[in-house]
Amino acid sequence: MSDKQHANRPLADFIVHNLDSAVVFPKPYRGGKTAVSWQTEELQHVSIASKDGRIVWVGPAAELGQNVTIEGSARFYNGEGLLAVPGFVDSHTHLVYAGDRSDEFEMRVQGRSYLDILAAGGGILRTTNAVRGLSEEELFVKSAQRLEQVMKTGVTTVEIKTGYGLDLENEMKMLRVIDQLKAAYPVRIVATFMGAHAVPADRRADPDAFVDEICNVWIPEVARSGLAEFNDVFTENKAFSVAQSRRILEAGLKHGLKAKIHADEVNVLGGVDLAAELGAVSADHLLMTGDEGIKKLAGSGVIPTVLPGTSTYLMESHHAAARKMIDAGLPLAIASDHNPGSCQFLGANIIQSLAMLQLKMSASEALIAGTLHAAHALALGNEIGAIEVGRRTDLALFALNSFRQIGYQVGQNSLFELIIDGTPVFGEQ
Ligand code: NIG
Ligand code: FE
Repeated sequence: MSDKQHANRPLADFIVHNLDSAVVFPKPYRGGKTAVSWQTEELQHVSIASKDGRIVWVGPAAELGQNVTIEGSARFYNGEGLLAVPGFVDSHTHLVYAGDRSDEFEMRVQGRSYLDILAAGGGILRTTNAVRGLSEEELFVKSAQRLEQVMKTGVTTVEIKTGYGLDLENEMKMLRVIDQLKAAYPVRIVATFMGAHAVPADRRADPDAFVDEICNVWIPEVARSGLAEFNDVFTENKAFSVAQSRRILEAGLKHGLKAKIHADEVNVLGGVDLAAELGAVSADHLLMTGDEGIKKLAGSGVIPTVLPGTSTYLMESHHAAARKMIDAGLPLAIASDHNPGSCQFLGANIIQSLAMLQLKMSASEALIAGTLHAAHALALGNEIGAIEVGRRTDLALFALNSFRQIGYQVGQNSLFELIIDGTPVFGEQ
């Protein structure tokens, strides 16, 4: 080998060596109006080299030495018998909460609707009471237990929303809990402020005054704290109108908070149009979104995010029109929406299964939607979400022969190791 070639070889300080297989996406979606591809490729006998937490080389294990300069102090992880996929990205969760709503679950099984329970003071408002009653430390402990379960399903990045404080003090408390989780766990956490999750009982007489307060007082304070990156709103009957949602999202954008929206979950009010108009990073739920909404999303750059766990848990008569969205060329993402009321499915692998069973997605589509496209839904689409040179070394290692077994083995979990930023999390070997 010439000196020049040698000089161009990347340095590596961490290597996942001798993997049985690794899944790559040959033509990853690059954001905006670029092309969407659902193609996956399962490479055999692979090594992945990393430097400073970023992938520098992926290729045949036998060719590692001739392509990579391995630092003397480099760590090796033995990948024999393992499959590597990109770490899952759960781009929509309400993971920080307290309390129990198992009675509402039974009520819904017997036929009461989700919005009726909310209007009667249950639902989100009930969780709000539970959250307000806990100290920051207590809320941290409850949320940390859940986060550990999420990580065990192969998730390396998780978004977490506020929205069970519904007053400034308790919304800030939730943001601080999210921040403590960030400090305590290696998983990448993205914080979303969702003060506009529901109108609390004592503000029902004048919801517009509540919206004013969110826009003029809460959002500036949240932005000053630096504790949130996104701003989300529940655009729905009995929650926030499109006009109110517009004010809330615009106020966030003015203060540097990127926009997300809960749109078309129960009724089509115009949340999708608003997302396209404001350049929201993602529009989520979309259970009721039809051809018109899909047309609006096409080419908008908004990442449509569907939540098959929620439509299953709410026993809806249908699920989001994922197939139509894929056929229309949209960079569809999937996420868990884990929360205490409308979805108790937790983590990534069960959502992979539900995407296949309920949304009729292929295993390749489910994998790309739950990794790369979900990363785009967090504005991290060029940083994480795929096994590709230049991206963070975030991997989920499974004791499986093929990624097609992840969704197939419903409710089972063959995760062996999680690697985040080039560091094994569980230390299995
Ligand atoms: O995404 N739709 C609004 N928010 C959550 C449910 C929250 C709850 O019921 O506690 C959702 O489904
Ligand atoms: Fe949600």
